[in-house]
Amino acid sequence: MSIDIPRGTQDILPGTVEKWQYIEQKAREICRAFRYQEIRTPMFEHTELFKRGVGDTTDVVQKEMYTFEDRGGRSITLRPEGTAAVVRSFVENKMFGNPTQPIKLFYTGPMFRYERPQAGRFRQFVQFGVEAIGSNDPSIDAEVLSLVMNFYQSLGLKKLKLVLNSLGDTESRMAHRDALINHFKPRINEFCSDCQNRLETNPLRILDCKKDRNHELMKTAPSILDYLNDYSKEYFEKVQQYLTDLHIPFEVDANLVRGLDYYNHTAFEVMSEAEGFGAITTLCGGGRYNGLSEQIGGPEAPGIGFALSIERLLAALEAESVELPIEQGIDCYVVTLGDKAKDKSVSLVNDLRLSGVAAEKDYQDKKVKAQFKAADRLSAKYVAVLGDDELEQNVINVKNMETGEQEEVSLSSFVSYVKEKLL
Ligand code: HAM
Repeated sequence: MSIDIPRGTQDILPGTVEKWQYIEQKAREICRAFRYQEIRTPMFEHTELFKRGVGDTTDVVQKEMYTFEDRGGRSITLRPEGTAAVVRSFVENKMFGNPTQPIKLFYTGPMFRYERPQAGRFRQFVQFGVEAIGSNDPSIDAEVLSLVMNFYQSLGLKKLKLVLNSLGDTESRMAHRDALINHFKPRINEFCSDCQNRLETNPLRILDCKKDRNHELMKTAPSILDYLNDYSKEYFEKVQQYLTDLHIPFEVDANLVRGLDYYNHTAFEVMSEAEGFGAITTLCGGGRYNGLSEQIGGPEAPGIGFALSIERLLAALEAESVELPIEQGIDCYVVTLGDKAKDKSVSLVNDLRLSGVAAEKDYQDKKVKAQFKAADRLSAKYVAVLGDDELEQNVINVKNMETGEQEEVSLSSFVSYVKEKLL
């Protein structure tokens, strides 16, 4: 019996992987422009980090983590997200001591969540995320949002909606929490068992329940925006003002609740509005997490960031019929006729490759016609034909496959000729 790929994972094969590379390259480019530097943290961490960081009562921690005991008896978890680990690294490497603050970091890499696989939901998925740690300035919230919106737009996406909310500071959140408990408590027995548990542990999460979303109490639930204290209100207004200054359209949705516990003040999601995108329309999520550093034993270090998955980004590109400008073809295919020419092609192709020309040859003793066909399949821009006769005269025939133009060049100038033509 053959062994299949695990549920919720995928192979990314040649032909598709080029899209991933292109997207990753665009992510690097925009991060460079915004001065976000790459960080690479391990793919597994101590389980405690996510319990404390992401939050004990979240679905991610309670239901979705890949947790196991290693041979040393430690509880280890495959990372379900990147923020907790980046903040851990910020603390552990004392980045708070760096004179240039905030520390601005980005990452790309696989994350793992034991979720029910469906379109747009995988058990291993790749996130691109950024974190700016060490500043409480609302302009950095706007900067992070500008980065992500411009990233999506640079790839050609148009049907996007940025939804924004403020969860306020601790004081505002506590006031809202009390109001939520008072609101739901009298009729909590009409809600699912998860919501009943959430009432005391994390009532805000009730608002995000998929099962009870149509309950009448949901529509009349107290809005966080009515409980923001002056500082939180001013902060949120400033973020909105900056977004307007940057010409970034957004909608405020007081019901936007994020699935992870570390958020306060700005919380946001980017949705796809493309027709036929499917049930899960959230492309990106993020927000501010002042207090997360202290939560995992570090000093005060307010932060904000986002993460998006490449899988959902690709689905959005497809839904909007955006073709990425990807070149799949090779530069030059060397066709040979005769044994001596075939032997010579080994070093010719090697010389081309070492000078940066993507070159290929035949390895299967194909006839000339079949070699041309192979060159065509690889979308070769140039085909160089070398027969034993040409070899004797130290020349080679180079054909431009687009124009059909053909030229005989000396073998000694072959590589530089092809290179020049490709410029
Ligand atoms: P999150 O909302 O859990 O936030 O995930 C962010 C994004 O990751 C989602 O919007 C979605 O694009 C993608 N994603 C999540 N789960 C899956 C899945 N099972 N399959 C495919 N894609 C998925 C975070 O992870 C936070 N760390 C974001 C953040 C960074 N907040 C502040 N800084």
